[in-house]
Amino acid sequence: MVLNDTLDRPLHDLRISLIDRCNFRCPYCMPSEKFHHAYRFLDKNQWLTFEEIARMARIFVEMGVRKLRLTGGEPLLRPRLDELIYELSAIEGLEDLALTTNGSMLSEWSYRLKAAGLHRLTVSLDTVDPEVFHQMSGGRGDLNEVLGGIRTAEEAGFGAIKINTVIQRGVNDHTMLDLVRHFRGTPHTVRFIEYMDVGNQNHWDNAQVVPSGEIFKKINAEFPLQRIDGTQNGGTSEVYRFQDGRGEVAFISSVTKAFCGTCNRLRLSADGKLYTCLFATRGTDIGGHLRQGQSDEALKDVIRQVWRRRDDRYSEIRSKLPRGTQALPKVEMYQIGG
Ligand code: GTP
Ligand code: 5AD
Ligand code: SF4
Ligand code: SF4
Repeated sequence: MVLNDTLDRPLHDLRISLIDRCNFRCPYCMPSEKFHHAYRFLDKNQWLTFEEIARMARIFVEMGVRKLRLTGGEPLLRPRLDELIYELSAIEGLEDLALTTNGSMLSEWSYRLKAAGLHRLTVSLDTVDPEVFHQMSGGRGDLNEVLGGIRTAEEAGFGAIKINTVIQRGVNDHTMLDLVRHFRGTPHTVRFIEYMDVGNQNHWDNAQVVPSGEIFKKINAEFPLQRIDGTQNGGTSEVYRFQDGRGEVAFISSVTKAFCGTCNRLRLSADGKLYTCLFATRGTDIGGHLRQGQSDEALKDVIRQVWRRRDDRYSEIRSKLPRGTQALPKVEMYQIGG
């Protein structure tokens, strides 16, 4: 039986955050003034173990989930991650297993990830300007490492890689055409993500959002584009092809063109909390139930309750929310990985 929420949306995707730590300090996600050496991330014993994650994943697939995405923080910081991927890729009924990474460790990891059965990779990369990149990673990242990582991933057999690019006005908007040029003619798709008010730490300001329409116009003026599909199967992006056949770009417009109507994603944090929206203010502690030794059936009951009462559509109602709502405590990006 298909499990639907109050807005009739089926549960289809599970996004699993493996760790809340990251080796970068992107100011829009983990500003370094707050996430300094004394910041207390989760203790390792709070992380769901691989065994627990694999059990949860199996349960979710039995309940109709077809797509798993592994995120962080930075998921490649989780030791022996390939062992988990090996387990997950063997789950019968699972159609898609993907991972989102900042790419800085792909040179070491790509072959192992491929061998373990990972289907797809998404790399977050906001610019190909080395200075701007360094600044946007909070002074931690090296552009060449990420570009080298992407090359290794290609060699290891990852074909079409999605490149996630967050554009912030006055920060990296002047570099977006260079990024487009860099990946034109490759099988990879640059996806421009509108800067969102996720969490409470990034001092989000609407003036920094560059609407997809504006980005589209700039790209289209230099490289004419043609729409190839809509947001499909609960997908987040609108995809365009270059008219000269040299590849694709896409737009994730969660501020100017919300896609809550088809949102079929549930998020599991590294410490075992279920979040029904990227902008959720609280989660359900399924990890607690798991650690009390509950049966698969009992865990499924919890999940059914969570999904059946789900009514989130934050991006659609953002502009109509009462003043001050923005300040309510929300889950942070580094806790659920987008
Ligand atoms: P694909 O199947 O590869 O298209 O993946 P995806 O779009 O589900 O996942 P991905 O991690 O590549 O998502 C890209 C970005 O879109 C995320 O990092 C978020 O910034 C944003 N995003 C993904 N899902 C949602 C969502 O449900 N709501 C909103 N507002 N943004 C989302
Ligand atoms: N708005 C939009 N995208 C964001 N990401 C992180 N924070 C934000 C934000 N505030 C992106 C990252 C990564 C993905 C997980 O989400 O760049 O690609
Ligand atoms: Fe790390 Fe990604 Fe957050 Fe940047 S956006 S700090 S790479 S988790
Ligand atoms: Fe889904 Fe919430 Fe994003 Fe809307 S705002 S698409 S409900 S995660």
